[in-house]
Order: sequence, then structure tokens, then C-alpha cells
Amino acid sequence: MYDIPSASIVHLSLQALDNYCAQFAGTMIVVLDESARMVHVNTQFLKETGYTESDLLHTAFRGIAESKLFRSEPEQSIEAIVKHLLLPSRDSISIHIRKAGGTVMHTTAAPIVAQTEQGIRCLLFIYNQEAGPGTSLIERFGETMLQDEHIGVILLHPETLQIFDISPLACQLLGVAKSALVNEQLSSFFASGEKEYALICQALESGEPVRNYPITWIHDEKRSDLLMDVGLLRSCGEGGEGAYIIFKDVTNLRSLETQVQRSDRLAMIGQIAAGAAHEIRNPLTAIRGFLQMFRKTMIEREMNKEKEYTEIMLGELDRINHLVGEFLLLSKPKEVMTSSVQVGSVLRDIMPVVASEALLHNVNVIWDEELELPRVLADAEMLKQVFLNLCKNGIEAMTAGGTLSVRGSVVRTGGKSQLLIEIEDTGPGIPAVLIDKIFDPFVTTKQNGTGLGLSVCQRIMHDFGGSVTAAARQTGALLQVVLPC
Ligand SMILES: Nc1ncnc2c1ncn2[C@@H]1O[C@H](COP(=O)(O)OP(=O)(O)OP(=O)(O)O)[C@@H](O)[C@H]1O
Ligand SMILES: [Mg+2]
Repeated sequence: MYDIPSASIVHLSLQALDNYCAQFAGTMIVVLDESARMVHVNTQFLKETGYTESDLLHTAFRGIAESKLFRSEPEQSIEAIVKHLLLPSRDSISIHIRKAGGTVMHTTAAPIVAQTEQGIRCLLFIYNQEAGPGTSLIERFGETMLQDEHIGVILLHPETLQIFDISPLACQLLGVAKSALVNEQLSSFFASGEKEYALICQALESGEPVRNYPITWIHDEKRSDLLMDVGLLRSCGEGGEGAYIIFKDVTNLRSLETQVQRSDRLAMIGQIAAGAAHEIRNPLTAIRGFLQMFRKTMIEREMNKEKEYTEIMLGELDRINHLVGEFLLLSKPKEVMTSSVQVGSVLRDIMPVVASEALLHNVNVIWDEELELPRVLADAEMLKQVFLNLCKNGIEAMTAGGTLSVRGSVVRTGGKSQLLIEIEDTGPGIPAVLIDKIFDPFVTTKQNGTGLGLSVCQRIMHDFGGSVTAAARQTGALLQVVLPC
């Protein structure tokens, strides 16, 4: 007899083996002896093949089964199964079983080789491939849903909130491996979603299902837009037997929706702004001219107080002029003039301004003066405006001081080289709810802000074939500017 390696064998009493078979009553089970004769067949096997027990008991399995593992020499069959079990990638064994009526059933079998008081026994758990792994379509549907990578499913106990099963996407969202989640409490993994957790508890308590509840989930700096369903899985009797939470990842859909909304809004603002800006500029020029005349007269007459007032008025007029200029930049389909620009020197030019602003706000600036960056096709003045706006925002966000870091590097994506400038601060960061909106005109959280800074940056970067984006993070903001180089 073939000497069976101990790694492939389990030790079981015949009684234990019987209990084992009883536990899997819904699965077809055949037990073979050392000579691959059937010594036990369960009712499910008889039901599906149409044989009676006496048809099969003590006859050779290969009499009704065809597989590359069942050979003419009976002992070799068990040997082949054991060798199969020792393979690192052991798959289930494919077996064709001839039914009592003569038709052939395609099955796969998972074997267990056991040492019992009566010698070696081989248990075969047999699955009808035609019927699929579950016995019914609905079971197979359930299985498929739990494996789906785009739908997060959590099955749990409705009262204790203990997790029974969980799909790969749900594990990924919670950031924990499946083995660490099964049988654990849902609350242990919902620390960052208190509102959602309360909603789930309420839905399960009241039995009122939740449908398409929108959630913004942030894990590992990755933001996902989800729609959540919560409901009870009722048994035939009264109370709930189980409960489910389903997450549908709609991040792509959301960003498309936001893009459409944004371009609609921009187009509308553009039209209004172009008209308004033009009409405002003309009277402003006249007012500015007369004010300058007043100022001159006041200087001549040594009217110092009045001179000061006119200076303030001129300053405020300049602010309006600047604002109108930004409006026009946003709205006008402007022809972009580009030339080869040294981004390193653009940054070097603005750094003294940034440093003095930083000093005022008790902010430390980290930046590599020697940084050599490739040339890009752009407009140096406009790039300065972008970097200044981003640095200014960072400094303004750190109300209690902090550190502003400016970095530059070249990244390769999809065979293309791109210049990446990162501006990072240690302020409170951009709240997740605002992150999609901050590039829209007039979105500001500042008392004296116009909310135009970032939309102007975006418009400029778009003109140069680049982009500016904000990363969603728990603390500090990270703004990334990308330019083709
Ligand atoms: N580094 C940052 N940290 C935190 N929030 C930021 C940061 N940068 C921008 N924001 C948020 O984005 C909003 C919009 O910024 P944007 O530059 O467009 O306008 P603003 O700074 O409010 O006004 P302005 O630029 O005219 O002074 C800000 O009000 C702020 O809430
Ligand atoms: Mg700003």
C-alpha cells in the first residue's frame, strides 16, 4: 500500500466521520475505502443520482464515476487523491458521474483522506456543477453579491450588530481584513462614521429600511462617494433574523455630475461677469482719474487728513479693479500666449513675497532654493499668480502659525512626464464637504475673501493643459499643481 504522508491525512473515528456526514446533509457525500469502493453514500447523493443504497455500497466508485484520479488499479486511486491533496494549488477534482437513468452529471469534488479504526477512508464532498455552488439561483445570487468588488455588503445580526459576513469592497472601505471583521461588532470599525452608525442602528431597531443614503467615506486619504442601503432579512416568522448593509460606490458618477454642474455654473457666471465687468471698469477709470486730481490738490494745499482719505479710496478702487480683472479672466475666452518658462525661477521670484506674508502670520516656509525644475510651456506671470494664490491660502489657513512646504518634482504617468508642484500646510485642512466646491467662484469661508483665488488658478492651469487639485486629508491641506513638461 502507498505510504500516505501525514500532512495529507486527518484522524477521525468512524463515529466522528458519521457526524461529519450528517452536518453536510445538503451536500452529496460519498465515502470510499482503501480500494476506492463506496462504503457510505448519503441521501443527497442518492436523491441526485437516482440510485438506491444497495446499488452502490461496496462497489467500485469508478463503476459510476469517471475522473483522471480514479484508475483501474483501485489502490492507485487513493494514492492519486493524496498526491492531489499535496499539490500547492490543489483545485477540486472534476468527476463525471453516470446517473441511474444513464445521463452524465458534471461534478467537482473536494476530498478529505481520514485514518479511522477500520483503515483509510476518503470522503468526497461532491458539488453538481450544473446546479452551481449554491443549490438555488437565489443562493448563487447571494454568493455573487458577496464576491462583487463594486458592491460592499455587510451581513450582520440585527440586535447585537455582530458581523456575519462581508464582501471585499466593504473590507476595503473599513480598511480591515475580512478575518479581523467576521464575528466582530460593527461599532469597532465605524469610529469615523458616527452619524452613519446611528442611522444604521435606528433603521435596524425600527425595521424601516434605508435606501440610497449618500455617504462620503474617507479612508487612507482616499475619498469615496457611496450610497448606503440598510435593511432587515426577515425569516418566515416574526422578528428579523439578520440584517444587511449595502454600499454602492458612485464616486465616478458623482465626479461626473459635479463636473457637469461646475461647467454649467462657470458658463453662466462667465456671461454675467463679462457684461458686468465691462460696465464697471469704465466708470471706475473716471472715478480714479478725478480722485488722483483731488489728491494732488490736497497735497498742494497741505490738507493731510483729506489726502489720506483719498489714498484709502484709491486703494479700495484698486481692489475693485483687481477683482474685475479676475472676473474677466474667468469669463473671457482668452487666447493663451505661452513661452518656455523656468518654473524654478518663477518660484524663486515669488518666494520673498511669500516669506514676508508668512512672517506676518508666524508661519515657517520650507522650500529648496536650489531646486532645478524643467521648463514648461506657460506664462510666467500667470504661473506666479497661481503659486501666490495657493501659498496665500495655505498661510491664511494656519491662523495659529505652522509650516508651509513648497516642493517640486517630475513624475511619469502613462509614459508622459509631468511637473508636480506641491504646496502643503499644517493648517486644519479642507473639510471633505468643501473639497469639491472650493474651485467654484465665490466659494469662501473667509470674512474678507472673494472666493475667486482658486477658480482663477484652475482656469489658468486649464489654459496651460495642466491642473490644480486639492487632496482630501484629515489634517493640513495639500494642493497639487500638475503641468506637462
Ligand atoms: N490651504 C487651505 N486650507 C484650508 N482651506 C483652504 C485652503 N485653501 C483654500 N481653502 C478653502 O477654499 C476656499 C476658497 O479659496 P479661494 O482661494 O478660492 O478663495 P478665498 O481664499 O476664500 O478668497 P481670496 O482668494 O479671494 O482671498 C477658502 O475660503 C477656504 O475655505
Ligand atoms: Mg484665496
